[in-house]
Amino acid sequence: MARALLSHYDLHARDLPWRKGQDTYRIWVAEIMLQQTGVKSVIPYFQHFLARFPDLPALAAAEVAEVLACWQGLGYYRRAVHLHAAARMVMQNGAGRLPETMAGLLALPGIGASTAGAILAIGSGQRVPILDGNVVRVLSRLLAMEEPADAPAGRARLWKMADRLTPADRPGDYAQAIMDLGARICRPRKPDCLVCPWSSWCRAHRSHTPTSYPRLLPRRTRPEKYQFSLLVLREGSLLLTPRPARGLLGGMWEPPGSPPEETWSPPDGQALVNWIKNRHGMQVTLPAPLEPVRHAFTHFRLTVYPYVCHWLAHEPPSEARWVSLPVDRSLPVSTLHRKVLTRIG
Ligand code: ADE
Repeated sequence: MARALLSHYDLHARDLPWRKGQDTYRIWVAEIMLQQTGVKSVIPYFQHFLARFPDLPALAAAEVAEVLACWQGLGYYRRAVHLHAAARMVMQNGAGRLPETMAGLLALPGIGASTAGAILAIGSGQRVPILDGNVVRVLSRLLAMEEPADAPAGRARLWKMADRLTPADRPGDYAQAIMDLGARICRPRKPDCLVCPWSSWCRAHRSHTPTSYPRLLPRRTRPEKYQFSLLVLREGSLLLTPRPARGLLGGMWEPPGSPPEETWSPPDGQALVNWIKNRHGMQVTLPAPLEPVRHAFTHFRLTVYPYVCHWLAHEPPSEARWVSLPVDRSLPVSTLHRKVLTRIG
């Protein structure tokens, strides 16, 4: 089966920028970006990131805000914070080289078993399995596996299968070939079984039910949450504050506002004047409501109610900054808050 897949890969492999050479740093950056983001969106970010931080020492020497600024728009910003922290750990403990063992890679923030497997297989030719979302789909269909793929028993069975299929010869190409198979042929909704090099082994194909797999545990619905965001203007500048380094959107900059909450009633203008006075000591004009902004996170959906007002008196706390409009890309601002900022043009 590995031979059939590799022959197919030799003819049809995609020409992707991280597939040139065996620099483990490049492979690591690419695999982290590809964890939750598709190939097409990753390519320009990958190229820009590598131009800005060409090697591991350059990444470790940067400030986390610079790394986040390069990552803005890609989402799941914790990946960038972890990438940066891992680079610093490697510079301190690892003499500047990424570990080439499973245990060494798993000890770094942001690297799980599948990412570690991809780095070892692609970067140093080790026979290590991978199991990312694409591979889960491919193998679940191959086995027509009735256990939910996201439950422990199903996961264990898929890992075992992934390991058995991984060849000693060209494990790195094999890893990329099976990911390509999932992305381009064994697609979620419309698998192209006619051109699949594995169709003759595939139980789901044989029973004409590929899209019935992977089976998954019943999904909890994502709760709706709400927050307000207060855009404070002062002579063409906008007040932004940094989020705490840990947690949702950690280290990103945004206007002051409430945390996302499930119970919600829109605040009136005077309540917001009091809120910013208590919170940041500032006096502002009566805020006016703007059109709400909707955004979907992995675990909840969010509606942001933006308000705009003008600064009158008293300086904000020292960590806050007045940023001239439009806010340029040197400051890391999430896609959500870039959307909020469009409400004032
Ligand atoms: N998804 C995750 N890693 C990948 C890679 N190296 N090539 C293509 N898709 C991927």
